[in-house]
Amino acid sequence: MTFIAVAKLNDIEPGKSVCVQVEKKRIAIFNVDGKFYALDDYCPHKGAPMSTGYLGVTDVTCSWHGASFDLATGKGLAGPCAGGIASYPVRITGDDLELQV
Ligand code: FES
Repeated sequence: MTFIAVAKLNDIEPGKSVCVQVEKKRIAIFNVDGKFYALDDYCPHKGAPMSTGYLGVTDVTCSWHGASFDLATGKGLAGPCAGGIASYPVRITGDDLELQV
């Protein structure tokens, strides 16, 4: 799999997230103090956009019913998380954020 540029570094402020479309997938990218993570933008419980979730230091909590997921691995941590969510490697090249999908 190859890395694809999906956003600019300045597009996502620290403590924020955005949704990007990569082919047919919606992927949420999170900025935790300059470290970036990417998960499917689709909660496995009832489909909430994870990009609207509550961002912690190492996890994100779904805004609909409170399932939480590890930002690095997508592993479900608590709540109705149904096992987990897909995560994607993120790298920075120049001022581009790139995902491996
Ligand atoms: S839709 Fe995410 S916890 Fe229900």
